[in-house]
Amino acid sequence: MKNVYLDNAATTPIRPEVIDAITESMQANFGNPSSSHSFGRSAKSSLELSRKQVASYLNCSSAEIIFTSGATEANNWLLRSAVQSLKILRIVTSKIEHHAVLHAVEALQKEFSIMVEYVNVKPNGQICNTHLVQILNDKMPTLVSLMHVNNETGVILDVSYVAKICKEHQAFFHTDAVQSVGKFHLDLQQIPIDFLAATAHKFHGPKGIGFSFVRKGLLMNAMIVGGEQEKGLRAGTEAIHNIVGMAKAMELSYANLEMETAHIADLKKYCTEKFLQNFEGAKINGSETIFCILNITLPILPEKAPLILFNLDMKGIAVSRGSACQSGSSKPSHVLAEMLDSDDLQKPSIRISFSHYNTKAEIDFLIEVLKSV
Ligand SMILES: Cc1ncc(COP(=O)(O)O)c(C=O)c1O
Repeated sequence: MKNVYLDNAATTPIRPEVIDAITESMQANFGNPSSSHSFGRSAKSSLELSRKQVASYLNCSSAEIIFTSGATEANNWLLRSAVQSLKILRIVTSKIEHHAVLHAVEALQKEFSIMVEYVNVKPNGQICNTHLVQILNDKMPTLVSLMHVNNETGVILDVSYVAKICKEHQAFFHTDAVQSVGKFHLDLQQIPIDFLAATAHKFHGPKGIGFSFVRKGLLMNAMIVGGEQEKGLRAGTEAIHNIVGMAKAMELSYANLEMETAHIADLKKYCTEKFLQNFEGAKINGSETIFCILNITLPILPEKAPLILFNLDMKGIAVSRGSACQSGSSKPSHVLAEMLDSDDLQKPSIRISFSHYNTKAEIDFLIEVLKSV
């Protein structure tokens, strides 16, 4: 057996129907949406239809969706613009955020001399809500930035509760929802999130396209100037084919959500059981985790850690050692460093992330190869 892809939190294969929608858009709809002739009007109509579709799955208005190149861009822009236009003096975040947030916050701290506070993280990967409330009791113009689902451990944040706490303390709330959009129903009429970032390639859409949600009434600064696209907030001709592909990917994710969630949850349960049966002392990292991410510390000598991903790769199996960008590094994951004790941190941990394309036979093969390391 070869080519077992179990790294779906890094990126996902594009669904064939999405490729068809992208191809059709490129062939039949090449006009510039800013042109006033029929070619332009047709592209503009696709653009706005896609925006409506994306908004409908989050139960928000299409005016609240701004297309971006992905979530790194969306997170950077949302955080920067909130600091600049909402006169934010403090960002409250956690040390287990993706670097797209952590590094953006560090840059803003230097540039604007804002205060940054980090909420405590519990050993199970959950944010300490008591600490969050304690921090927010100290009133000042604040933006809270906490991710919905952690990309390394799959730990889920109770966004409804955090959004409610933020409202009660007059703080704005931003969430990186990259690992949850397309996997959960998120109702933005019900949950008072102010800003949200997402990206298509995590839900079987194309790379290089994502979006920001900005709650109506919140003023934002332009990310890029030089055109009127995206209400003048992000100038530049829109990548219509990618936007159409993202909307199609979202449509299919939500149309198949129940069926695919059940299949993937069953795989994760099977995989967890296999690990616990075959590796005495293996530990699952994080509790209350999403159905498609499994992070596990293996009872394998630390010296063997660098060999694991290499050996799996040689057999055609793709898993990850944390977030994708760190896979080649020998530094421990910044997320696990906040959760594990120093002994467990020395041991190899792997992240297995599933999609509906995976099978139990692939998991059997993964276990067989790992046992031989
Ligand atoms: C939680 C999280 N945020 C942000 C990103 C970055 O998204 P993009 O690749 O669209 O820039 C990723 C992707 O790895 C992610 O997992």
